[in-house]
Amino acid sequence: DKGNHRHFMEKEIYEQPEVISHALSHYVDLASYSIRPDIAGIDFEHLKGLAISACGTAYLSGLVGKYWFERYARLPVEIDVASEFRYRELPLSKDQAALFISQSGETADTLASLRYCKDEGLSIGAVVNVSESTIAREADAVFPILAGPEIGVASTKAFTCQLAVLASLSIAAGRARGRITAEEEREMVRHLSEMPRIMSRVLNSIHDPIEQLSRELSKFRHVLYLGRGTSYPLALEGALKLKEISYIHAEGYAAGELKHGPIALIDETMPVIVIAPHDRFFEKTVSNMQEVAARGGKIIFITDEKGAAASKLETMATIVLPDVAEIIAPMVFSLPIQLLAYHTAVFMGTDVDQPRNLAKSVTVE
Ligand code: F6R
Repeated sequence: DKGNHRHFMEKEIYEQPEVISHALSHYVDLASYSIRPDIAGIDFEHLKGLAISACGTAYLSGLVGKYWFERYARLPVEIDVASEFRYRELPLSKDQAALFISQSGETADTLASLRYCKDEGLSIGAVVNVSESTIAREADAVFPILAGPEIGVASTKAFTCQLAVLASLSIAAGRARGRITAEEEREMVRHLSEMPRIMSRVLNSIHDPIEQLSRELSKFRHVLYLGRGTSYPLALEGALKLKEISYIHAEGYAAGELKHGPIALIDETMPVIVIAPHDRFFEKTVSNMQEVAARGGKIIFITDEKGAAASKLETMATIVLPDVAEIIAPMVFSLPIQLLAYHTAVFMGTDVDQPRNLAKSVTVE
């Protein structure tokens, strides 16, 4: 049932504050603002490293997770798409753990990667939406994302719920490894707990500007997404979402890679979507934007209030989100990216919930 939404994808985008709040209640204790001790399942304290493997959007949530585990827990993460991971003959040892992320829990390549790691004797965690799935059954520890059924082929709420779970796990890992103090944990969990309310506000405030922008975006054939830090996986996710449902050619790049190739493509026919909260990378991303502007490129700037005030560059559009804590920025910034892809596809008249050639669950290699 789509309720009063035109598509399941739209419904699932708007459901995010509610399902994330539900997911978080499984991982955080709101009375003490701490991560629930019983969620562990992985002995983070003694780990030498973490291997993460997944496909598509689930892989991109894992890529955000890599930044978090490394920054907050000083835990080295090896991550790859499952179709490569399973055949790489990656040397692994028993003092590492492996994490597999899958909405369906049935993706063939992800399952094969899991079995590879199991054979190597690693302890296996699964971040899944479908708790009765094969991947959940074969894992030692299951971390449910509790997003509820996701019907739209393009993943939206599963992505942000995966992020919420990975954020919680990275805080738990940081605590276990003595890299986050009890005080910092409380602060981060407080930010997580405020996130659903912030997401609701953002969904309301960006609807009209995004719809307007989508009408313009639907006239282009090529789009480039740029971001740094955790905004880099978001750039990849933005490009994936746009291409799969609107069939507009889109690419995501780390902003610092611009001058190593993609800058050759920049002209007025390929808008550049820059995802840049006012974080410690902001100035660097702005200088990449200047390089785009200097070559006649059109910029769509997705930033926060501080970022909008700090940049003097002319843009085709600027989408302004509230200033939020670093730990929740990837979830909040997912919203404009999803809605932009959604409305652009609606303007193009594509089958948003059932894009051509795609299946919700990829159970063959
Ligand atoms: C993109 C999308 C796919 C899936 C991928 C993995 O919107 O939905 O890229 O993320 O096929 O699927 P799961 O998470 O079920 O393993």
